[in-house]
Amino acid sequence: MSLTPQWLDELRSRTTLSALIGRTVKVTKAGREYKACCPFHNEKSPSFTINDEKGFYHCFGCSAHGDAIRWMTDQRGLSFMDAIKELAAEAGMDVPAPDPQAAQRAEKANSLYDVMTAAQAWFVTQLLGVEGAAARGYLKQRGFTEQTIRDFGFGLAPDNRTGLKTALKQFGDPMLIEAGLLISVEEKAPYDRFRGRLMIPIRDPRGRVIAFGGRILGEGEPKYLNSPDTPLFDKGRTLYNLDKCSPASRQTGRVIVVEGYMDVIALAQAGFADTVAPLGTALTEQQIQMLWRMAEKPLLCFDGDAAGQKASMRAALRALPLLKPGHSLQFVTLPAGQDPDDVVKSSGATALTKLLEASQPLVERLWRTEVASGPLDMPEDRAGLKQRLGAHTANIADGEIRRHYADAFRERFDNLFVQRRTTSPARSGPFVRGQNRDWRKPQILPPGAETKSFNAKGSDFLIQGVLGALLRHPALIRQHHEALSDFIPPDANHAALLNVMLNESFTKESLDTDGLITILDEKLYNVASTLLHSNGTVFAFNREELIGGSDGLSNASKDLGEAIRLMKQRPALEEALDRATYLASLEMTDETFAEQQRLRHEKKVFDDRIIEFFRRDEDSL
Ligand code: UTP
Ligand code: MN
Repeated sequence: MSLTPQWLDELRSRTTLSALIGRTVKVTKAGREYKACCPFHNEKSPSFTINDEKGFYHCFGCSAHGDAIRWMTDQRGLSFMDAIKELAAEAGMDVPAPDPQAAQRAEKANSLYDVMTAAQAWFVTQLLGVEGAAARGYLKQRGFTEQTIRDFGFGLAPDNRTGLKTALKQFGDPMLIEAGLLISVEEKAPYDRFRGRLMIPIRDPRGRVIAFGGRILGEGEPKYLNSPDTPLFDKGRTLYNLDKCSPASRQTGRVIVVEGYMDVIALAQAGFADTVAPLGTALTEQQIQMLWRMAEKPLLCFDGDAAGQKASMRAALRALPLLKPGHSLQFVTLPAGQDPDDVVKSSGATALTKLLEASQPLVERLWRTEVASGPLDMPEDRAGLKQRLGAHTANIADGEIRRHYADAFRERFDNLFVQRRTTSPARSGPFVRGQNRDWRKPQILPPGAETKSFNAKGSDFLIQGVLGALLRHPALIRQHHEALSDFIPPDANHAALLNVMLNESFTKESLDTDGLITILDEKLYNVASTLLHSNGTVFAFNREELIGGSDGLSNASKDLGEAIRLMKQRPALEEALDRATYLASLEMTDETFAEQQRLRHEKKVFDDRIIEFFRRDEDSL
């Protein structure tokens, strides 16, 4: 054992400073503090204040300042160790025995920092030298500026087994091995760990180099090689770029977490200095705590692929037992197949800012992941969902937060399923016949081309029509914002597109199709242009000519409103029917049969209304 910062904190907190000082000087209470005439300089009126909560004293006359230990050394003239012993005795604490090993460790760490500093300087020299041409070309091709290359200390490990070993031989092999720079295998001479790699120094919170990541130049395996854990480097307690991120975070009140070093560096270059990354492992508890020291709700911005989504979910689960009031995680969803580096390169910083703004809270991410994880048709599936949500809730250690999560999940669960039970005509619900008034009497039509198409593609066809209308007439987005905001199209691209449109309509006063299209990334742009060119024009609200004039627009808007309603209700109706069919198959009673028949009829009436939509259009053509 040695005197750890924790032990010293404990000692300070067990000592009442005003009482300690009050033994030598007369102190008087003044509000939440104490005052005294300063014992360090001559004065008549007291300018010496003591704050017990913070555990320090300060003199406004002579700037004398310190804590209990400092008081004992400066005023009482004791040595540091004697001061500690005396305070510990009073506080009822045992002074830990001096630990020669710890002292040795501290000594050694010091010299390991020197090794790392020397290695970093050598790697940089190699990058700048003749051997570095290819690596410099690679950095340039990735779009990194000279400034960024310098700021982040890129270097090069040449493809050579003894380059670094020779250059740093003054430290000796054992030390270079301990620093993780040489690999030592039995019966072989130790050799350079990093060969033929672009070197990225990993810094501690004070900016000292403690490890390296080495990226292969071009293709190859492994893509990244990291330093092993060493006395300086503990992967699970390190966040890449923390030293630069934390001052930037204080400015922005935000911290962005990405998966890779290159993402951090690309984001920094694009103006997001408040970014860190774990080092190729899942976020650890310590890393989450470090993030919370910078921002209450770190934004997890992992790659838009299956691995990235899995990593997000792992972080979510790891955070649950750690949650404390006001602290959580937010989840950013990137376009499929892109990492943050790709997003800023292909779509720019504003596109990323928009995605950050559209981040999901933890509760929402858990809910959506669980709902999407499998079918929910059978009662067992639903029970399974409930159980998984319950397990997440149970993992939350903070009682207050746990209760709020339980409420939030229950409410979402009820909304998802109870809504589907309100289809009985006796209750008021989405399918009550009275609401059909606006509609012409539904006729049973011979199936036309649209009817067939509709039956085949189901709700998708309607969704495409609605999205097409919103793209053609972005002014309508705002009018239907509320109805659209809780609708998630089953197709992920459609969902992403709708999300962008809803966000845009919020931030922009007036929005036109071109303005909307230009902010889309390549993928969504393609989705949008398919929608704009598709045959969605069978819908009245999609026809340019029908929308002419303010009457035209308001009629189109009304139709669109109805279409949105239908679009949202059909999946629920389908589910209710499936459920009823299933129940009827379990036990065919008059009741289950009637319910199933009733829903079948509802669905028929409902689909007829949609078909009527097309029909009305044909009439008006
Ligand atoms: P990625 O493969 O997503 O990295 O791995 P990246 O930053 O997008 O890399 P580029 O753009 O292709 O250069 C994310 C992180 O996972 C760790 C590294 O820490 C990397 O930054 N990793 C990845 C490894 O440790 N080893 C590997 O082989 C690959
Ligand atoms: Mn990348």
